[in-house]
Amino acid sequence: MNDTTDKTPAPLTPAAPAPRTPAAPAPRTPVTLLGAGAMGTALARAWLAAGHPVTVWNRTPARAEALAAEGATVARSAAEAVAASRLVILCLLDDDSVGAALDGAALTGRDLVNLTTGTPAQGRARAAWAEERGARFLDGGIMAVPPMIGAADSGAYVFYSGSADLFEEHAETLAVPAGTRYVGADPGFAALHDVALLSAMCGMFAGLSHAFALIGGEDIRPQDLAPLLVEWLAAMAPAAHASAAALERGDYTKDVTSNLAMQVAGTSTLVRTAEEQGVSTELLTPFWDLMARRLADGHGEEDTTGVIDLLRAR
Ligand SMILES: NC(=O)c1ccc[n+]([C@@H]2O[C@H](COP(=O)([O-])OP(=O)(O)OC[C@H]3O[C@@H](n4cnc5c(N)ncnc54)[C@H](OP(=O)(O)O)[C@@H]3O)[C@@H](O)[C@H]2O)c1
Repeated sequence: MNDTTDKTPAPLTPAAPAPRTPAAPAPRTPVTLLGAGAMGTALARAWLAAGHPVTVWNRTPARAEALAAEGATVARSAAEAVAASRLVILCLLDDDSVGAALDGAALTGRDLVNLTTGTPAQGRARAAWAEERGARFLDGGIMAVPPMIGAADSGAYVFYSGSADLFEEHAETLAVPAGTRYVGADPGFAALHDVALLSAMCGMFAGLSHAFALIGGEDIRPQDLAPLLVEWLAAMAPAAHASAAALERGDYTKDVTSNLAMQVAGTSTLVRTAEEQGVSTELLTPFWDLMARRLADGHGEEDTTGVIDLLRAR
């Protein structure tokens, strides 16, 4: 009788699956950066850390040396840097430096992202200029200081406006150094948002300067006043929502909690206190004058929103 039992020894371990090569990480978009100042360097470092090939150019070559040591390719000219990547980021001093740096560079087919601080009109003019040269253009306004760039949870972000196609295509790369907020196709809108926020901050710095001047020479420590100032300003900042609602309604008299008549009278106390303390009133009086003008025009039942109409009526 034939023994038909299979004598092949059972394998000790199941057959190993055919080895698979681990999927290669998706190649990162090459980035060219014009400007290795404080902000440009921080941006370059963030892209390098995320594995993007970075080509950098700076007018003063020595300033780009540190980035070369960190893996960036340093171009000898702006034109050479622009030729190296389709995505070209500009982070220069001002709009004139952008014009100077790009003079003579071949821009056809490039995607220009201008993170240089400028005015809305400069953003619009630069967009038209780039379009005439065959480039797509996105303007940006950085809401951060260099140490916040590339730092997780720092709150840093950039306003962008201009080519929506460019923004969408490079959204992932643009999000590496900081958060992104696209605010519209109008290339002037990024600068307008940026400057609106910075202008509000300017008022805050003026207020902080005045507050610290008031306590100068008194037995109050600036370090004791500082947390009170921070808490108070944070509590008052939502007034922006009330003004926005009033502006959109076109009625500044609804839901008013502190009317203009009271605020004008109250500010006279601030001015008198400054005088008593020997502190200049030059930061207080411009806003007080505007409120008083609006009050004199018969708007005592409003809050301060009506001052905006006076500012716009030039
Ligand atoms: N730093 C911040 O806190 C901050 C925050 C938000 C936005 N920003 C904006 O970021 C931009 C850059 O600021 P930053 O802090 O990096 O300033 P920065 O350290 O002074 O650097 C300025 C850069 O512009 C270059 N530059 C100046 N004039 C030039 C010209 N005519 N042609 C070519 N390049 C020229 C400089 O080159 P050289 O090295 O050769 O002088 C340098 O690369 C500015 O628009 C700024 O408003 C800065």
